[in-house]
Amino acid sequence: METPMTWQLAQRTRRMNPSLVRGILKLADRPGVISLAGGLPAPSTFPIEALREATERVWRDQPQHALQYTASEGHGPLREWLAESLCAQGLRVTADQVLITTGSQQGLDLVAKLLLDAGSTVAVESPTFLGALQAFAMAEPQVAEWACDDEGPRPDALMALRGARLAYVQPTFHNPTGRCLSAARRQAMVAAAQQQGVPLLEDNPYGDLWFDAPPPPPLASLWPEGVVYLGSFSKVLAPGLRLGYLVAPPALYPKLLQAKQAADLHTATFNQRLVWALIEQGGMPAHLQALRGFYRAQRDAMLHALHTHLPGGCERPQGRAVPDPPPEGGKKTWGGPALSCEWQSPSGGLFVWLRLPEGADALALLPQALAAGVAYVPGAAFYAGEPDARRVRLSFATATPEQIDAGIRLLATLLKAPR
Ligand SMILES: Cc1ncc(COP(=O)(O)O)c(C=O)c1O
Repeated sequence: METPMTWQLAQRTRRMNPSLVRGILKLADRPGVISLAGGLPAPSTFPIEALREATERVWRDQPQHALQYTASEGHGPLREWLAESLCAQGLRVTADQVLITTGSQQGLDLVAKLLLDAGSTVAVESPTFLGALQAFAMAEPQVAEWACDDEGPRPDALMALRGARLAYVQPTFHNPTGRCLSAARRQAMVAAAQQQGVPLLEDNPYGDLWFDAPPPPPLASLWPEGVVYLGSFSKVLAPGLRLGYLVAPPALYPKLLQAKQAADLHTATFNQRLVWALIEQGGMPAHLQALRGFYRAQRDAMLHALHTHLPGGCERPQGRAVPDPPPEGGKKTWGGPALSCEWQSPSGGLFVWLRLPEGADALALLPQALAAGVAYVPGAAFYAGEPDARRVRLSFATATPEQIDAGIRLLATLLKAPR
């Protein structure tokens, strides 16, 4: 008879939890459910023809190189190009500081491995990206919330986090809030971080997805020696390529490289050469422009649906003007007092951060929403500390404008139903 095996798990697994978002995404995948839940880019935006052409070129011209091990730092020409592109955004960076990673998720993991000990403090925005919390959890740190106001993390609040090993921030088209920090707030945050001696981890996978004007320069341009910067091809090309990059100050780079070697030696050679071949073909600027136009229209469809079906309105539109509300106006009453929802118009990225009326609980409402045929992610999934139960993350990336309208209408019907 076989002896049952008892696995002795490492202490660090105590903080590992199944992701709430992944669970919801599975349910959202059911036929008949309109998903406003996923953070996935729209598959229709994948540059399939350009990638096919690039694949053929790699396969024809360099098959042996493309199938071989490569440098842990990543493919040289791709690193050079990234350094140049980042310099154009205001960073002072050379290719030696660029490390190609297996998605920016790996960047989060490597930086956590390098800078966090069990019990040390990592500061995060509230709310923040769930995947970052998952990556940090493996190092068993104390997670402390960097208090935020409408403009983003409050510079004065960093004083309470003095001694933190790291503050993780997404200044540009934040997941889940869609928020983009002003140049003034960026400068004030960096000044506070310098003063308190807290290094910053800047995560910027959505920076290229701006709708009207480019966002202010990254934090890394303001404090090159105190910021590790993460970027990704996931939202601008295709996430399945698993191609991201980090930019580290020279003092940190060698250790990050060793952490990368220990993790996976290097990111897939073929994918790196494929993306470089695609960039060399020269279609990237036009592709980015088309992408921005597509997501701008998606954002507008979401805002229009919100104005049409939900009572409430924009707290503070970011970027360009919000499309005109329907004739009866954005504020409605459904018998009795106004059941007001709140949202902002994001100026880039993939998300709207909705606040349901007082008394609503987004997590508790989800089973009914799924049964009615619409999925969203309850905001509670994105908080390290006390959540705002009324918050909902809505993605406008993958649903069609008609589905977005129908999904928001279903949500409005649920909110109107007596509870
Ligand atoms: C803020 C943020 N950081 C990192 C990632 C991970 O992206 P990647 O596919 O590059 O690993 C995501 C993915 O959704 C994200 O939203």
